[in-house]
Amino acid sequence: MDPGVCFSQLLLFLHLVTVNCSPGALLDVVVDRYDIPKVCPREVQTEDFIRYHFNGTFFEDGKKFDSSYDRGKALISQVGLGRLITGMDRGLQGMCVNERRRIIVPPHLAYGSIGTGGIIPPDAVLVYDVLLLDIWSTKDEVEIRTLSKPASCRRTTEASDFVRYRYNGTLLSGEPFDSSYSRNATYDTYLGQGDLIKGMDEGLLGMCVGERRVIIVPPFLAYGENGYGNFIPGSAVLVFDIHIIDFHNPEDPVEIRVTHKPQECNMTSEADDLIQYRYNCSLMDGTLLYTSDQYDSPSFTTLGANKVILGLEEGLRGMCVGERREVVVPPHFGHGENGAGGVPRSAVLLFELELVKLQKGVPEGYMFVWLEETPDPLFPAMDLNGDKQVPLEEFALFIRLQVQEGKGRLRPGIDADSIIKDMFDNQDGNKDGKIVEDELTVKEDEDTEELH
Ligand SMILES: *[C@@H]1O[C@H](CO)[C@@H](O)[C@H](O)[C@H]1NC(C)=O
Ligand SMILES: *[C@@H]1O[C@H](CO)[C@@H](O)[C@H](O)[C@H]1NC(C)=O
Ligand SMILES: *[C@@H]1O[C@H](CO)[C@@H](O)[C@H](O)[C@H]1NC(C)=O
Ligand SMILES: *[C@@H]1O[C@H](CO)[C@@H](O)[C@H](O)[C@H]1NC(C)=O
Ligand SMILES: *[C@@H]1O[C@H](CO)[C@@H](O)[C@H](O)[C@H]1NC(C)=O
Repeated sequence: MDPGVCFSQLLLFLHLVTVNCSPGALLDVVVDRYDIPKVCPREVQTEDFIRYHFNGTFFEDGKKFDSSYDRGKALISQVGLGRLITGMDRGLQGMCVNERRRIIVPPHLAYGSIGTGGIIPPDAVLVYDVLLLDIWSTKDEVEIRTLSKPASCRRTTEASDFVRYRYNGTLLSGEPFDSSYSRNATYDTYLGQGDLIKGMDEGLLGMCVGERRVIIVPPFLAYGENGYGNFIPGSAVLVFDIHIIDFHNPEDPVEIRVTHKPQECNMTSEADDLIQYRYNCSLMDGTLLYTSDQYDSPSFTTLGANKVILGLEEGLRGMCVGERREVVVPPHFGHGENGAGGVPRSAVLLFELELVKLQKGVPEGYMFVWLEETPDPLFPAMDLNGDKQVPLEEFALFIRLQVQEGKGRLRPGIDADSIIKDMFDNQDGNKDGKIVEDELTVKEDEDTEELH
């Protein structure tokens, strides 16, 4: 036997002898709380279930008669209802998780003058060294402790939301069993649909984006008596440290907040317009993913041309030059369940937008549109000098006049000379460098898109 153990047993023995005359004469259990944690939110009381480790030795010679370590796992028991020997029912009272105590039990509160099954002799004084790992009661509910809540919170989580969060999972003793950080990814799930353990389905409700809370779940709302895998023992209370990154509902629309509106705002962006805009694209926790500031000049796009994600398209519509917005885009209007280069799966995106330039556009497939009635007949209007033929120069002059007078519009974003040349070539059926009335008529009959 380890001489150190021998020595301490001896000291204890001497101590007890001086105080109590003889250990056999102990009237009640003697409890020595030799290691009490600084924080003790809860103490064992009657009817509590506990999970604990122990070493049981005989007072007389320090020999071991039982140990949870030899059994390979911590013991689970209910305290104070006679399921344990009376000495333990009493000696465990008031214990904290992570506390270590020694409980010395006289025979009349243990196995009496008969002993038990050849293991405990008659009239044995028993010494239990106990380490408490877990406490819960069947009356327990999910316990929530808010650690931090953002000042502004437009909406909180509810059932059927899809939530993305980071977490650290520990047992009450502080032993970690799982963490989203170990996988370097958020945990993503629907709420209130039974995808999670009951306690989490409940504990994650009512949270803001960015909120941090601790959720403590009793085993009957977690993994029950069986536990889970190698990491969660049976009947364990679970402590989840949660940080909500974002959440959305599959029904959520794109959310647009105008943060600055110029006083003069009589022309706004719509489909077909060519716009130039500045943007920042971040995750809801503030992580910047993309910004137009990384390029030499703000981005260009033609609205309605399916060039940007749906949510951004919507957020860019109805803006006037100089306007600024914050646009929240749920994943079904963004990059969806699979994410995309740098955008995590099912992530909600926050765009900060500023419209820099707006050029009114023409519908898809058109190079030029009339903003007023098409001149009818068209050819004489085009034939500015009345010589019955329209060469490129005259055609160009005519089109530019229409644009100047606000009667027509050329497709923005493309060099005007080359559009006009294209339009001219389209009308000049026989390619002789001039348009005559017949050519135009034939084209008109074919429902020419270019000029109408
Ligand atoms: C039980 O004994 C083992 C081996 O000596 C020791 O590691 C463990 O901490 C003891 N447990 C308690 C609760 O005292
Ligand atoms: C989880 O633990 C890591 C590492 O200790 C820590 O950085 C992080 O803030 C914790 N996360 C939560 C949600 O508590
Ligand atoms: C975790 O993910 C981030 C962002 O996707 C990446 O930059 C980082 O390298 C990853 N770390 C590990 C350890 O996988
Ligand atoms: C907007 O309307 C004002 C008068 O209401 C006018 O002076 C101004 O030129 C208009 N601006 C644009 C861009 O059309
Ligand atoms: C993007 O973020 C930078 C840095 O915070 C800021 O200066 C800029 O104005 C933002 N851009 C937009 C379009 O809001």
